[in-house]
Amino acid sequence: MEEQLNEYQGKATMDKITSLAKRRGFVFQSSEIYGGQNGAWDYGPLGIELKNRIAGAWWKEMTQLHDDIVGLDAAILMHPRTWEASGHVENFTDPLVDCKKCKARFRADQIPEENLAAKKCPECEGELTDTRKFNLMFKTHIGPAEDTASVIYLRPETAQGIYVNYKNIIQSNRMKIPFGIAQIGKAFRNEIVTKNFIFRTCEFEQMEMQYFVKPGTDEEWFVEWKKRRWAYYDKLGVKMDHLRWHQHGPGELAHYAKDAYDIEYLFPMGWRELEGVHNRTDYDLSRHTQYSGKDMQYIDQDNNNERYIPYIIETSAGLTRNVLMILCDAYDEEQVTDKGSAASEGSADDIRTVLRFHPSLAPVTVAVLPLMKKDGLAEMAQDIRTELKEDFATDYDQAGAIGRRYRRQDEAGTPFCVTVDYQSKDDNTVTLRFRDSMEQIRVPKAELASRLRQEIKTYKRAAK
Ligand code: GAP
Repeated sequence: MEEQLNEYQGKATMDKITSLAKRRGFVFQSSEIYGGQNGAWDYGPLGIELKNRIAGAWWKEMTQLHDDIVGLDAAILMHPRTWEASGHVENFTDPLVDCKKCKARFRADQIPEENLAAKKCPECEGELTDTRKFNLMFKTHIGPAEDTASVIYLRPETAQGIYVNYKNIIQSNRMKIPFGIAQIGKAFRNEIVTKNFIFRTCEFEQMEMQYFVKPGTDEEWFVEWKKRRWAYYDKLGVKMDHLRWHQHGPGELAHYAKDAYDIEYLFPMGWRELEGVHNRTDYDLSRHTQYSGKDMQYIDQDNNNERYIPYIIETSAGLTRNVLMILCDAYDEEQVTDKGSAASEGSADDIRTVLRFHPSLAPVTVAVLPLMKKDGLAEMAQDIRTELKEDFATDYDQAGAIGRRYRRQDEAGTPFCVTVDYQSKDDNTVTLRFRDSMEQIRVPKAELASRLRQEIKTYKRAAK
């Protein structure tokens, strides 16, 4: 495993990913002209497309492919009692220490134990403060008065918006247990340490699904959802040997969880959490019953009106963290030797950087490139792009040598390039170039769209 990480880190370091992301317009630092805002990032033209496609894949998986799951988009601002009921006001804390000398701030559970015991800063050896609890929720005020009555929180997880709406959804959509509610949205945490690019940020997005089950069936459903979430990443084309399960030990379990597993991904900085599958029991709905005074019991009309508070199996994935995972997973550098097309591919012996996105996730599916701007090739290429636009995300590029244009598309992760050349004018065929193999074939213009559709559907990433 160590070897796997070393080999991989040699290619996709976090520095390379961050710099590619900026260079190609995936992700920019927030408020960069003012020196940047810690913990916040902006998604550029390619980044928003990638993020939307990852969100779309998850949404399709959860709602379209599951008859028993419906969607929701709840507000970020919720009644402050929500967060008392959920336990976040009391328990959503990290242990914090500061260095009195260099003023660095650390999570006490992330510095060596000997430093903590000796109260010695791991960076400058200065004296550390006592450990204190730091609540991760962002607090602000609603209305003109900044008093305690106007305190409101930015939600630290999307889950609670689902719990407070669970009865509305049962009534409006006639849902019967077991059923799920899916939601994608922003969440905010005042993280003490934000590093590794978009891995851990203060503003991020989650894709959460809460599945309501009868008590006693929860352990079975927990196993089932673990299985389904694992299969999802396989379907997405992720390198499965870069994924593993990690079960939370007693010290790691969140205040609401009976059992919890993380799906961890092998990022360039090592194995880190990508998604959590949690058995939240009846904790949340019981607490909302207690704090709101509203009865959150489910009435089973098919079973003599049996009443119970459902247990909840949660699958909780970071959307922005999935963007980072997909970038790392797709990143590749490859020594390109003469493939018989050196003239069109650039020099015979160089390194190309390529993002091997699954075509259904790639920000641009097909780029149309005229070999030359003149002699009507540009016009023909523009016409082809217009035809493809309706069904595919397209790009058009006529600037520079064709080999360099291919490389630009490789780096953006575009799986297919269509080149229009002089032969195209004669016989209405074009060159279709495949990103992964750099292979080129000739295809009749009229068959292009159907050929692309078929290539997307049958795409399999070559094993490396
Ligand atoms: N509702 C349960 C919940 O929020 P969590 O383990 O705290 O559980 C779930 O978060 C997922 O949200 C994580 O697996 C991670 O992908 C993402 N996530 C959590 N904190 C994050 C942060 N500060 N920045 C980016 N993603 C984060």
